Amino acid sequence: MKISKAGSLKGEINIPGDKSISHRSIMFGALAKGTTEVHHFLQSADCLSTISCFEKMGVSVENKGETVLVHGMGLHGLKAPAEILDCGNSGTTTRLISGILSAQDFDVTLTGDASIQRRPMRRIIEPLSMMGADIKSIKGNDCAPLFIHGQKLHGIHYISRVASAQVKSSVLLAGLYADGETSVTEPYVSRNHSELMLNYFGANVTTHGTTATITPASELYARKVTVPGDISSSAYFIAAGLIIPGSEILIKNVGINPTRDGIIKVCESMGADITLLNETNASGEPVADILVKSSNLCGTTIEGALIPTLIDELPVIAVMACFANGTTIIKDAAELKVKESNRIAVMVKNLSLMGADITETDDGMIINGGKPLHGAVIDSFLDHRIAMSFAVCGMASDGETEILGSECVNISYPEFYEDMERLKK
Ligand code: S3P
Repeated sequence: MKISKAGSLKGEINIPGDKSISHRSIMFGALAKGTTEVHHFLQSADCLSTISCFEKMGVSVENKGETVLVHGMGLHGLKAPAEILDCGNSGTTTRLISGILSAQDFDVTLTGDASIQRRPMRRIIEPLSMMGADIKSIKGNDCAPLFIHGQKLHGIHYISRVASAQVKSSVLLAGLYADGETSVTEPYVSRNHSELMLNYFGANVTTHGTTATITPASELYARKVTVPGDISSSAYFIAAGLIIPGSEILIKNVGINPTRDGIIKVCESMGADITLLNETNASGEPVADILVKSSNLCGTTIEGALIPTLIDELPVIAVMACFANGTTIIKDAAELKVKESNRIAVMVKNLSLMGADITETDDGMIINGGKPLHGAVIDSFLDHRIAMSFAVCGMASDGETEILGSECVNISYPEFYEDMERLKK
């Protein structure tokens, strides 16, 4: 994919459904009694991996495009799959499903693509094993493929070293089946979609500070779920609207859950012209339209409790920082190294190629913004968020930028390039 410097971006955009919430709607729908109706489901490769895993365990899913019907099997209705479960590129599928599978009365092997087979699974193997799960990394390298022999589980209080919704959700889902209460305490609060949606489906999850607690459930009950637009996908339009001169974009129907809205806070601290309009609610998740107008940005510091609330947006925030005056410091973000690619190393390498003044640190990066950037050949490392970040960067830079492996956007946003193209004036 080749991207040239763009003129202004103008118009409205409807963002596809939230990836995290779409995954959970299928998983919890599969475990519920009755038929769950999901609207604005994200039809991307990652979410389709989740559907395919549950279909292999006997769940009937009618994917009608805008609407998906999940015919739930009840909490104890999943069947042993006849084949290996393929989680594709999806960390959310791999980690959340492991919590569920640890408690079933059958054995299963799960795996995924080359990226998934490099991502750390010790973070779920450890707490699930403490609950009594029999879960092993088949190659003994703490990565997928994983073999899980379902077991009776007991409740634990797990203190997690990382703020990770995938770890927290995996343990809470196992806790649905445990013989007592299960709690997870994190260093900072990570996204709470599992807690909200499990309660919406009739479970009992409570939250105190950075601790979430679940009591075992006898059943979940099917619900109608309307998935908000994904704030992580909207981040590319927010950034493009702010850094491309003369732009004004209305981004409609975006989930603004406070455990996900760090990008809005960062934009405000960078001096951005960003406004929330029409705030409402979709199936228990807050939603709003976001209006952005091109702005003179200044540098900022992003750290601590803010990091989990914008973890997937940090690549495109690094792009914004290159177009801001002054220094932006990103720290406490070592988790970026274990995403679909090492997002610290990859952002620093690629932004440097485009002429940015950027330095890698142990847990983040330091960017001295304000230097004009020029096009370059950019390797996406098949990481969707890297490809989309450099599409934005390329539109704001001189000359032409070529993105290698650009089709990987199908992981979270298959229509990304077309949607961006429509806003060009
Ligand atoms: C996700 C949690 C985050 C995020 C990922 C989706 C989820 O990962 O980066 O894209 O749906 O729970 P971690 O839990 O590893 O931080």
